[in-house]
Amino acid sequence: MIPDKAPKEDVFHGSEDLKKEAHITSFENYKELYMKSIENPDEFWGDVAKDFFWKTKHTGQFLDYNFDVTKGEIFVKCMEGASTNISYNLLDRNVHERKLGDKVAFYWEGNEPGDELTVTYRELLQRVCQFANVLKSQGVKKGDRVSIYMPMVVELVVAMLACARIGAVHSIVRRSLPSSLFLPLIRSDGFYRGDKLINLKLLADEALQKCRDKGFPIEKCIMLKHLSKEAEETSLGSQSPPAKRSCPDLQQEKQTGRVKKTRPVPQVPWNPEVDLCWHALVRGASDECEPEWCGSEDPLFILYTSGSTGKPKGVLHTVSGYMLYTAATFKLVFDYQLDDVYWCTADIGWITGHSYITYGPLANGATSVLFEGLPTYPDVSRMWEIVDKYHVTKFYTAPTAIRLLMKYGSEPVQKYKRESLKVLGTVGEPINPEAWQWYYNVVGERRCPIVDTFWQTETGGHVLTPLPAATPMKPGSATFPFFGVVPAILNESGEELEGPSEGYLVFKQPWPGVMRTVYGNHQRFETTYFKKFPGYYVTGDGCRRDKDGYYWITGRIDDMLNVSGHLLSTAEVESALVEHEAVAEAAVVGRPHPVKGESLYCFVTLADGVTYNRTLEAELKKQVREKIGAIATPDYIQNAPALPKTRSGKIMRRVLRKIACDERDLGDISTLADSSVVEQLFQNRCCTAV
Ligand code: WTA
Repeated sequence: MIPDKAPKEDVFHGSEDLKKEAHITSFENYKELYMKSIENPDEFWGDVAKDFFWKTKHTGQFLDYNFDVTKGEIFVKCMEGASTNISYNLLDRNVHERKLGDKVAFYWEGNEPGDELTVTYRELLQRVCQFANVLKSQGVKKGDRVSIYMPMVVELVVAMLACARIGAVHSIVRRSLPSSLFLPLIRSDGFYRGDKLINLKLLADEALQKCRDKGFPIEKCIMLKHLSKEAEETSLGSQSPPAKRSCPDLQQEKQTGRVKKTRPVPQVPWNPEVDLCWHALVRGASDECEPEWCGSEDPLFILYTSGSTGKPKGVLHTVSGYMLYTAATFKLVFDYQLDDVYWCTADIGWITGHSYITYGPLANGATSVLFEGLPTYPDVSRMWEIVDKYHVTKFYTAPTAIRLLMKYGSEPVQKYKRESLKVLGTVGEPINPEAWQWYYNVVGERRCPIVDTFWQTETGGHVLTPLPAATPMKPGSATFPFFGVVPAILNESGEELEGPSEGYLVFKQPWPGVMRTVYGNHQRFETTYFKKFPGYYVTGDGCRRDKDGYYWITGRIDDMLNVSGHLLSTAEVESALVEHEAVAEAAVVGRPHPVKGESLYCFVTLADGVTYNRTLEAELKKQVREKIGAIATPDYIQNAPALPKTRSGKIMRRVLRKIACDERDLGDISTLADSSVVEQLFQNRCCTAV
């Protein structure tokens, strides 16, 4: 239950200024609305739905569901019977009804400083319509699956929304293509991340070959030449006559100009049987396209969850519920105002990018920064340079990025003013209080509240989160549930715990944006999320509730260690390690131990300029022992210059566990961003306890 009053001690607030314009201005205001959202969800979500365009109205219950496997099949339905189109709501509605056609939808900022492009809502609508017509001309129909494999460029958003416009289901992939899918594939030649060239075309060709080998041929590939006009002239030959430079090509020209001078471009092999050129196709396409009216529960996209826990699952989201939920969370969690400039640094290929770069912000008519590059290129001030350049007001990133930048101290941050910033957000993993403090004190200068948003690919949008002007913050706590979300904490026997407690985090009822199924495997959906505790959606995360009712995620349940009968949260140990000034990042896994059950194997990445030695090792052991207790004393500490991460920045603990145990069979590591890191860690394993 949410307490009636917010605590006054040991909490942090943003500046008072924020309250003046905020949608939700106080804790009491939050609580009142929260109760309404739980007691009368139809009315609460019905109000949200009023902002959107519905071709036909819904019939029956607003939100219908079964969360109990013992009573039959699990299902969630939102606004059954209604029809709409999400691209219409994101674009046409903003351009025509809300008169936001000239408003900037995206400031695109390339990997190289100086590469930039501005796209208004009207231009985005035209480009989406054009590409929707291209897809149609290639035979793509409502319900077809389209796979997208592209870098962080505006065309990626265009491709997603073009699919949505014609009712096709997009699935953005990063490394390996799931073999069960796809009519066409949309991809690009490649891109630069910092100094490193990523040749997407070659990677995609390899993946396609694998699909063919397994008997799943992909019929068509549309390729965007992002880097290479040279490639167009050499390898692509007559497939792509020189373009008349219209809007999409402007970006091309500008980048090509730069890239030509400074960078080698990828040479892309071209197979005229399968490969088609994006620009050539778009050039002849009309920029008007009547949207396909979709049922509320028609699929919108499939997204394969990161491989940090076993084989990927295709999480399926549907049109109306996802639209309402991403729109409402974006508006209230970032306290979105019409003149905001919002920047989410996530990869669009991650759920964070889907919900909070594409769908949520555009549904609100927001102006966003879309950044192709890295926080450390060309130097570690890049983020703050961009914040000043576009006067970013709301900024959303991951704890891993914060810890990375923290390594370099406050000077690179303070080189820039950051006066425009109002709200800071984090997502992806528990943020250790050390990093939280740095983000709050140094980046936000104690003025900006931090919204520590807990959610999952499966939840579609934020489920536990502070609201910037209403919720007093505690560093490291995702605080309270969002509207319509009812959390509970269960013990091992599935009993709900009251008051301060720790156990499994579950949800008791759905909200509009929760996933509907695992694509092609409803049984796996039920088994993964609903079988362990009938009647509840099980997140797989551990959680603690404190005396003030605040929720603290303690990490994945599978990241909990049992040392001599004591449950230990790896996140807690990591946090204690990172509090040492020599440590920039830490990851802790269990290693089987003959007496204790499990022992603690710690990987530490040191701050810039620090060298690893025995004295430091002893200090780290002492630090953890003092912070948590003797039971948590690390058994092994390994100096890890880098940690294995997914492209979305999540540490792959599963891989670290294998390294700790010297097991070379790593399973599926296709989502790993840089596989050389793993080999290096294997070579420098600790064999004897410290
Ligand atoms: C973790 C990311 C603590 C959690 C949107 C969850 C978090 C998993 C937080 C989902 C947070 C995400 N505090 N833990 N603020 N946000 N997580 O599917 O373990 O990539 O289950 O979605 O990330 O990761 P996913």
